[in-house]
Amino acid sequence: MTLKETREHEVAKSDRLDTVTAVQLKEISIDGLTCIGKGQNSVVYRLDQDTIVKLYKPCPQLMRQISMEKRNADAAYALGVPTARALEIVRVGENYGLMFEYLEAPSLRNVIAKEPNRLPDLAIKSAELLRRLHSLNVPKDAFPKISDCYRERVAGLADLLTPAEINLLNEMIDSIPERKTYIHGDYHRGNIMVRRKEPGHSAEDELLLIDMSDSSMGHPIYDVLGTYMLGINLVKTFPPDFIAKFIGWDTETIVSAWNLFKRTYFQTEDKGELAEIEAMLEAYCQLRWLTFLKIAPAVTEDMRKKSIEEARKSFFPMIRTHIERFKGRIEAMGCVQ
Ligand SMILES: Nc1ncnc2c1ncn2[C@@H]1O[C@H](COP(=O)(O)OP(=O)(O)O)[C@@H](O)[C@H]1O
Ligand SMILES: [Mg+2]
Repeated sequence: MTLKETREHEVAKSDRLDTVTAVQLKEISIDGLTCIGKGQNSVVYRLDQDTIVKLYKPCPQLMRQISMEKRNADAAYALGVPTARALEIVRVGENYGLMFEYLEAPSLRNVIAKEPNRLPDLAIKSAELLRRLHSLNVPKDAFPKISDCYRERVAGLADLLTPAEINLLNEMIDSIPERKTYIHGDYHRGNIMVRRKEPGHSAEDELLLIDMSDSSMGHPIYDVLGTYMLGINLVKTFPPDFIAKFIGWDTETIVSAWNLFKRTYFQTEDKGELAEIEAMLEAYCQLRWLTFLKIAPAVTEDMRKKSIEEARKSFFPMIRTHIERFKGRIEAMGCVQ
């Protein structure tokens, strides 16, 4: 069997939980366990040598979110995406968690914070991995469509924006063609893990992905926007001390990681071309940012207000111009299907 066939077989055997009722779940305790990581939505504990549990912060529709993460992680694994196997949904006291295979690999964020000299190699590898992921076509109905997810988030902004503004955001989503490409959905340094090869081993470090909750099907620009938004975009938007605290990398590191990533992902060294790509991502990143205003726990009321004021000044009036300007470039991205 090929790797893909073996994985499909394993996943078919495993429990497929589309919806779960809390009473059916195994109960575990995290007393005395070591916390090995934290994300926006979760705290992660090491359960034993081979497994971890991702304990979710309470939120509306939590069980739907956990079931979706399990389903997407299964489907991504079956597709051959280098990721941890999702195991079982469990109850932890009043809360819920999802068990995963433990990856003996620190995040790219932590690796570079400790060993900045590994940046060039790993920034290039992360762009190459994303190019490989974007060569994968997903089976029908294996993942949600990312454009639907954006449309749903935009609809959720109806109390903050005017109907005309909502229409403009939907026009921008419509300007991104549909594709059958695999999309990780949250491709940033905290979700990329680096498995180091033994010293003296000839093979290279390997990158693995976690946090498959936003995995979907669609146009590759959505993933590049994920990298852009939580990287260079922050440098353009926030002061350096906030960046160092929030990202754990200094401004220079973020800029140099982005330049390497961009040149590798888009396979160009041409300055004019790179500037146009940057302008396209800057414009479409504003769409992504607005779709996060209601769902990102780190976004405060004040940030939300300021983002909307700013968008009214310089983004909404420009949306149709952006769409016209970048149309051809977006259509040419990835393989047309
Ligand atoms: N399978 C795993 N093996 C080892 N560490 C993990 C694993 N999954 C998550 N982690 C650790 O937990 C952190 C948060 O996990 P993540 O799935 O990204 O949560 P969130 O959805 O809240 O962002 C990661 O940055 C990583 O350090
Ligand atoms: Mg994460």
